[in-house]
Amino acid sequence: MAALQNYITQNKQRFLDELFDLLKIPSISADKKYEKDIAATAEFVKKSLEKAGCKKVEICETKGYPIVYGEHIIDEALPTVLVYGHYDVQPPDPLDLWKSPPFDPVIIKTELHPEGAIFARGSCDDKGQFYMHVKAFEYMVKEGILPCNVKFMIEGEEEVGSPNLGLFVKENQKKLKNDVILISDTGMISNRQPSITTGLRGLSYLEVEVTGPNRDLHSGLYGGAVANPVNILAKMIAALHDSDNRITIPGFYDKVVEVSAEERAQMAKAPFSLEDYKKALDIADIYGEKGFSTNERFSIRPALDVNGIWGGYTGEGAKTVIASKAYAKISMRLVPDQHPDEITNLFTDHFLSLAPKSVTVKVTPHHGGFPYVTPIDNIGYQAANAAYTETFGVPAIPQRSGGSIPIVYLFEKELKSKTILMGFGLNSDAIHSPNEHFGVFNYLKGIETIPLFYQKYTELFISAKK
Ligand code: BES
Ligand code: MN
Ligand code: MN
Repeated sequence: MAALQNYITQNKQRFLDELFDLLKIPSISADKKYEKDIAATAEFVKKSLEKAGCKKVEICETKGYPIVYGEHIIDEALPTVLVYGHYDVQPPDPLDLWKSPPFDPVIIKTELHPEGAIFARGSCDDKGQFYMHVKAFEYMVKEGILPCNVKFMIEGEEEVGSPNLGLFVKENQKKLKNDVILISDTGMISNRQPSITTGLRGLSYLEVEVTGPNRDLHSGLYGGAVANPVNILAKMIAALHDSDNRITIPGFYDKVVEVSAEERAQMAKAPFSLEDYKKALDIADIYGEKGFSTNERFSIRPALDVNGIWGGYTGEGAKTVIASKAYAKISMRLVPDQHPDEITNLFTDHFLSLAPKSVTVKVTPHHGGFPYVTPIDNIGYQAANAAYTETFGVPAIPQRSGGSIPIVYLFEKELKSKTILMGFGLNSDAIHSPNEHFGVFNYLKGIETIPLFYQKYTELFISAKK
């Protein structure tokens, strides 16, 4: 594909400039303040699809933020690839930890990205990654080599749990009909070793509130004589894991599918350096469930983590006070066949049972999602692997990820099609963190690999039909 490489070299600056313009719009879905920016981003995505040559593009309103839908049908007899991505981003805070402003993209060289990486919120998750698809599509249309039909669905609420996408998918089954779903919203092992994500963890996210006395109290007058909600909350949270770092919620592991020794042995062969892992995070030791490796702990095993905890006085200096209330946000990452609602219920019952009579506890569920695991014996996986093999010179390794994209489970349930997760980010790209970045190499490599997927998928699809 020398022609494609030429096209990328010639258009590299334009590809970067366009992505920079997209990254400059702060499309933060979690904060109502950015509503106008979200609308502007949806408009930007629509225009970019039109400019790339997509025949029909529309903005589909929902109860929340709009979904940009594009359709380019060349021949009903050919397969249809549905590309999914999200144009919304996580809030950038803490702002003071960014080395450059989050919505003012710059290219900086790093150890893992010697050719430079684009630093901006959303560069990797997911603007940079879905925009690779727009550019790959542009190339195929321009050169007249698009081998199949394409549909695009780029949403604006992924980072807040896609609350309206499920209904949209259910109501638009015909419109979204496809043979395979293609998503670039995950990562790969390294720039020398591509991998295809074959699993995503599910999620149960909730908030807890512990209430003690009816007002904040003087910690001298009352300290030691009443239950302090912050102390109690800390105790309750500590009780959620045992000394083997297993989760203590009764029934929590009942539906966990144990991965076979064979598959675990296979997983252990993937390149992974514990030393590099520790060094990258500045930690002296790893931590986690007894009996499992680090790789297993973040992929095939469930986890429970406090995402935020607050209560009492946290301002400057000291204030001697016993707070009336304490709070925490807790997430549980789930694996097959754990059911998010069941897990939420198990958590709630158990958490309430941990509370002493001296406090009251409220548990409020936020959002959830099912875990997803996909087999590799299908033409979608084979096509992706063949594409990677050609552009990276080595085959991809199948690997389950610890992150969640809850809609993937729903796609399979409602649209009956498999999702291929062709991610080009690295774990070290700091998604959701300050200084998120995306390698220029990764961005361009994505644009180069995607057209090969289309080509190989269509070939395999046609020969399977014969
Ligand atoms: N793109 C990520 C998920 C991801 C990243 C999966 C890397 C695998 C590898 C996505 O945007 C995300 O952040 N998902 C959320 C869940 C959502 C319900 C807010 C997550 O995993 O926390
Ligand atoms: Mn994402
Ligand atoms: Mn994300």
